[in-house]
Amino acid sequence: MKKGENVDLFRKFTFYLEKKFGWFVIPSKIENTAFILGKLIMKHGESGVMEVFSAPVNHDYFSPVDEDLIDLYSVSETYFNREPEILERVNQLTDSVMTIRDKVNILCAASSSGEEVYSTSISLRNNFFNNEVSVYGAEINQRLINLALGGVYTEWSLRTCSSDYKTRYFDLHEKKFKLKEEYMKNVYFRKYNLLSQNIDYYFNGIRFDIILCRNIFLYLNPNSIERVIDNLLSLLNPGGYIITGLAEGAISERLKSNSFDGFRNIFKF
Ligand SMILES: C[S@@+](CC[C@H](N)C(=O)[O-])C[C@H]1O[C@@H](n2cnc3c(N)ncnc32)[C@H](O)[C@@H]1O
Repeated sequence: MKKGENVDLFRKFTFYLEKKFGWFVIPSKIENTAFILGKLIMKHGESGVMEVFSAPVNHDYFSPVDEDLIDLYSVSETYFNREPEILERVNQLTDSVMTIRDKVNILCAASSSGEEVYSTSISLRNNFFNNEVSVYGAEINQRLINLALGGVYTEWSLRTCSSDYKTRYFDLHEKKFKLKEEYMKNVYFRKYNLLSQNIDYYFNGIRFDIILCRNIFLYLNPNSIERVIDNLLSLLNPGGYIITGLAEGAISERLKSNSFDGFRNIFKF
């Protein structure tokens, strides 16, 4: 490949990452982005990747090139009980939603390998009955969804948890931690792209009372952030809450104007 063609393919790749997945290619990521492009070319051939990057963007279809690049590019960092004060708030908000509804639906909108979903499930199961609360996880990376469905984790996923937490909620199996079945009840996972124009398709009309969308906005470009907020709002029940990560806060004006009770990362609509 000539140098000019190289640059052209790299540009097409970064444009595709932004349009299809919303991912911002910041200068410090350029080297890693080029490395990932090289890996994709080695596996799928130059014409194979060029064909995908040149086709019209479809947010709901994932080619084999897409599946590989999602796994190579997306940042999946997560762990049990991340930002425990948020789980505490989710309990309080669930309690308040229960005063007007019989059932509460919670969505973790970028659920990675399931740690956020199950931390929420564990924390709520201690206070509510299984059939009162459902927790959904949704995520673009199929490999991470498969891990979540298995409910088996390494010590690393539980690195901030006490030994009491580990023994109370998990069975130890060959140095791995298997979540107890009762905390996997009323928990569901979906594969989707948060930028989809057909987000409702993935939830069959289900509406959520609390949506946690944490530690993903940091990686998205401004247009995609607004698209994601549109999508989340379309899935939210009237009076519902959106919660971002503590480091993200009110990432958009629309969130800022709906701040809830002085919290910088909880918004009521
Ligand atoms: C850093 S993890 C955050 C996990 C969890 N919310 C937490 O706070 O611990 C971000 C997740 O967002 C997923 N993701 C990135 N872009 C996405 C998109 N366009 N649609 C759906 N999920 C996406 C990634 O695959 C990754 O698993």
